[in-house]
Amino acid sequence: MNFFSSILASNRKSLREGAFLKKIPLHVAIIMDGNGRWAEKRNLPRSAGHKAGVESLREVIRACIDLGIKYLTVFSLSSENWKRPENEVRFLLKLFVETLKNELGLLKNHGVRLRLIGNRRGIPPEVLKVYEDAEMETSANSKLNFNIALNYGSRQEIMEAVKKICSDIGNNKLKYDNLDEDLFSEYLFTGGIPDPDLLIRTSGEYRLSNFLLWQISYTELYFSRVLWPDFKRKYFIMAIKEYQKRQRRFGKV
Ligand code: IPE
Ligand code: MG
Repeated sequence: MNFFSSILASNRKSLREGAFLKKIPLHVAIIMDGNGRWAEKRNLPRSAGHKAGVESLREVIRACIDLGIKYLTVFSLSSENWKRPENEVRFLLKLFVETLKNELGLLKNHGVRLRLIGNRRGIPPEVLKVYEDAEMETSANSKLNFNIALNYGSRQEIMEAVKKICSDIGNNKLKYDNLDEDLFSEYLFTGGIPDPDLLIRTSGEYRLSNFLLWQISYTELYFSRVLWPDFKRKYFIMAIKEYQKRQRRFGKV
């Protein structure tokens, strides 16, 4: 391919994608599922599936930046995932830390702001530090807000919020009468982040698995049978196109 034909090809691609740039979700959340099955199908250890899944995330982040999606929230490790075999948990944490360290420069340069959502108290300190450093280093960015749910569980999040609210009312920091849905949302790990417009779950599982239960009250749900390590740009675009066909009415007619 020569210089001009490559420009033409990339123009065609952006035109094809550009045709639907009008109704872009502000916030996409993803339950990345199916790494283990992807590996098992290839007679590989589950860890190989997790490793392969990193590339899908890279592609999805790139697609979000290209499309102008402002918030991406991914379920990286749930508060229930600690019950997995110890070696798998250890592998996952190591993979997260290494990937984050390797990619931080790129994320920073591409305007990505990173934020950890989840119960920080339950995260090993050496892991937490890498995330908190990354949060600090990217805090001035605003092109894409990339939220990583780690040690996250929605019920725990809601319980924590309720406790904090009770204590704030007790300490006269908060007036009972002022408490409403918006203020409640501010007490969640996701405080300040708008609710997702679209939630994607891969691998043909039709569950929410304790992910963002409060936040997805009016979110469009999209389930893909594709396993996460295979969920590359084209599948993400398919999900966005499907979203654009949905009619959101928020309870109205
Ligand atoms: C998702 O893939 C990755 C994490 C939860 C970290 P799984 O590990 O759940 O893969 P399956 O569901 O066993 O195929
Ligand atoms: Mg799974």
